[in-house]
Amino acid sequence: MEQHPITQAIRIRTEQTNEMEHSSPLFLTSSFTYDDAEEMRATFADENNNNIYSRFSNPTIQEFTDRIVALEGAEAGFATASGMSAVFASFMALLKKGDHLLSCNAIFGSTHTVITKYLSKYGIEHSYVNADKPEEWEAAVRPNTKMIYLETPTNPGLDIIDIEFVANVAKKHQLILNVDNCFATPVGQRPIDFGADLVVHSATKWLDGQGRVLGGVIVGKKELIKDIYLFCRSTGPSMSPFNAWILSRSLETLDVRMERHSKNALHIAKALENNEKISWLKYPMLPSHPQHNITLKQMKSGGGIVCFEMKGGLEAGRNFLNNLKMLSITANLGDTRSIASHPASTTHVKLTEEERLAVNITPGLIRISVGLEHQDDILNDILQSFEKC
Ligand SMILES: Cc1ncc(COP(=O)(O)O)c(C=O)c1O
Repeated sequence: MEQHPITQAIRIRTEQTNEMEHSSPLFLTSSFTYDDAEEMRATFADENNNNIYSRFSNPTIQEFTDRIVALEGAEAGFATASGMSAVFASFMALLKKGDHLLSCNAIFGSTHTVITKYLSKYGIEHSYVNADKPEEWEAAVRPNTKMIYLETPTNPGLDIIDIEFVANVAKKHQLILNVDNCFATPVGQRPIDFGADLVVHSATKWLDGQGRVLGGVIVGKKELIKDIYLFCRSTGPSMSPFNAWILSRSLETLDVRMERHSKNALHIAKALENNEKISWLKYPMLPSHPQHNITLKQMKSGGGIVCFEMKGGLEAGRNFLNNLKMLSITANLGDTRSIASHPASTTHVKLTEEERLAVNITPGLIRISVGLEHQDDILNDILQSFEKC
């Protein structure tokens, strides 16, 4: 019987060395050696699976990749230096001049920049579909559409998109469905089970879970990953073996960490939902979430992000951050430490108000990345800040 993915994320490992170490070794090396010229020739001719150079492959990076492949139920994968290099490689390896990319409009800011500013530079067209209007997907497909890209839950607005619904549109038109699964993580949602062809991750977030290293990974169908691998081995966005070693250890605790992050987040969301200082609050596992029925269909847990709108707009949002005592004010998310951010005055400040509103980034929007501190301490810090706002 095949082991459960949670077990595989702990037990898949690089081969033990003669030292008989229990933890996996770290192969911090740029290149690999050969006994003789013939072995090197055979390796370069793909006649064996020997490693050549860590830009192409490395056992420590492979261990991390194999664990994510198991967790996501994928066929193959490739790990990259950051989430953005994973997103970028998945576009550049599979799209060419004249192709069209269809994306949901509510996507991470840098992904929006890549699609809008850079893909167009290479003659790759794009258009955006409203994340909360499923009927728009099929109508937006063009004869030259090659890929559909979506994020669910979206960052920072927590919209939930029906993966199975979009996968059916993709199948009907023979398109690649590429899903950013950063917020849910593979223990909360497996897009491939609902028909996705590719899944991208910022490993920097919940996969690391402790705010230490940058990383990214792309998993999915073998034939697509092969093209992504060939693109990456030549262009060089590979993950550092050191980061892979850190991230691989983190995957051993991903399931238990996400269970607690989700439990804390649900507790906080329920406690704050009707607070008079906010006009609305979103958490996927609350029945009040506009796409709660889709959440129940495709997510096992709600994840660690809660967002709400401060009454009083931009100034109230900034005041909320200023009055926090414990929560960290930082750009990251997915840490053991709870983090508060105010997208309208920071990450999305360069957008016009109209552009922000189009993706549900309202002036008083606060995003909380709920950490692993005791739930009472996280809640009290938020409530005490509310009192001063
Ligand atoms: C949903 C999502 N995708 C991609 C990224 C990019 O990841 P990285 O910062 O590791 O490049 C982020 C970063 O916040 C993100 O939130």
